[in-house]
Amino acid sequence: MNRPTQVLHAVDQSPHPEGLTPPTGWDRRGLPGWTYHSPDWFDLERRGLFLTHWMLAGHVADVASAGDWLTYDILGERALILRGRDGALRAFHNLCRHRGARVVDGVQGTCRSALVCPFHGWVYNLDGTLRGPARPDSYDGMDRSAFGLKPIEMQVWHGFIFLRFHPGPQPDVADWLSAYDADFTAYGAAGLEEATEGKDRLAPWSSELPVNWKSVRDVDNEGYHVPMAHPGLQELYGDDYQDLSLEGGLNISVGRFGGTPPRTWSVRNYERLSPPQPHLPHRLQRAWTYYGIFPNAVIAFTPEGAQIYGETPLTVRSTRVTGRNYRFADESRQARAARYLAMRIDRETSKEDQQLSIWSDESMASSAFDDFHLSDLEYGVRRHHDELRAILPFLDRATAPAAAELDQWAEKALLTRPELRSNQPVP
Ligand code: FES
Ligand SMILES: [Fe+2]
Repeated sequence: MNRPTQVLHAVDQSPHPEGLTPPTGWDRRGLPGWTYHSPDWFDLERRGLFLTHWMLAGHVADVASAGDWLTYDILGERALILRGRDGALRAFHNLCRHRGARVVDGVQGTCRSALVCPFHGWVYNLDGTLRGPARPDSYDGMDRSAFGLKPIEMQVWHGFIFLRFHPGPQPDVADWLSAYDADFTAYGAAGLEEATEGKDRLAPWSSELPVNWKSVRDVDNEGYHVPMAHPGLQELYGDDYQDLSLEGGLNISVGRFGGTPPRTWSVRNYERLSPPQPHLPHRLQRAWTYYGIFPNAVIAFTPEGAQIYGETPLTVRSTRVTGRNYRFADESRQARAARYLAMRIDRETSKEDQQLSIWSDESMASSAFDDFHLSDLEYGVRRHHDELRAILPFLDRATAPAAAELDQWAEKALLTRPELRSNQPVP
């Protein structure tokens, strides 16, 4: 069973960095309840966090060939990631330069040689330049070069695609996530491929919850609840599960399977089928690993594949949770069967977590709710909150600050730049 001391140590003789130790007498409280339901605060999170920090949008496997595209929407911003004819990957605002329609509609797709805006038919090349407007004769000497799709900052790290809508304080993704480098190299993350179901691409999963995004993250940031709330995971790796909290809001969780023989059909068969992976270092064999991507996502591996999942805030009280699966190249039939079973166990776990998020979020509205009282095994929740505290103000307040105070702080922190103006309906 999980013991508090397990939080403190790195996983076996690995190059994993040491986890941070909860200091004696650490403050076991969570963020104040108002941060989960204040619309003004939510708007500060939008500007000071989501639009100015790296967001995990997908993997190069999602856009493998020329003309492949992937979208990523968050808080009024709409991104389009597009593979050009030259093989280069680029990110743009998914916003036609004529009147702002979505140039592509949907989550993912392929276009043959150009993007045609569905509103009036302006045509864009696969490098984002404007090929031409519809009925060019209706324009008077238009300079096409001034009407290309607007670029968005993008970095690819071990194949994973990160976007940043506006400049922010984080370093390059490779520097920021360097603590994960050794593991991602060992997994061969850059070479992941799209997960398939039969011959088709496996569609990403998505569901919408009536909760603040932090309530989802709080649940995911600790393994204290695994023995009680996740019977499947508990059978799989509950006896050997560790959370490592790292600097910079990063964290690694590792669950090793193969201990007590499982009774559940899917877990038992998963363990039987999961093929040995001798190319992996010992610390990653027969293990499910989770790498936190602050503030709202996780990249998770099993020996058979990978998944990205995370929370997209929609309003202060609603959140879309999504996930997308990948597989390793040259997958054997046995590995594929194991990957399906792993996904099945994982989907069950997600459903269980969603219910926990709803209960946790509801509690913030109750007059009887005092605060969290976190266990050492929930230190990851505190670390995530501390990272938010390092970025955003007023998180030591018992009650919500006045909107004018938030405005004043936003002004000083340069969060009133025109491009960060609110484009959100008031929740
Ligand atoms: S909005 Fe795209 S062509 Fe008019
Ligand atoms: Fe969970």
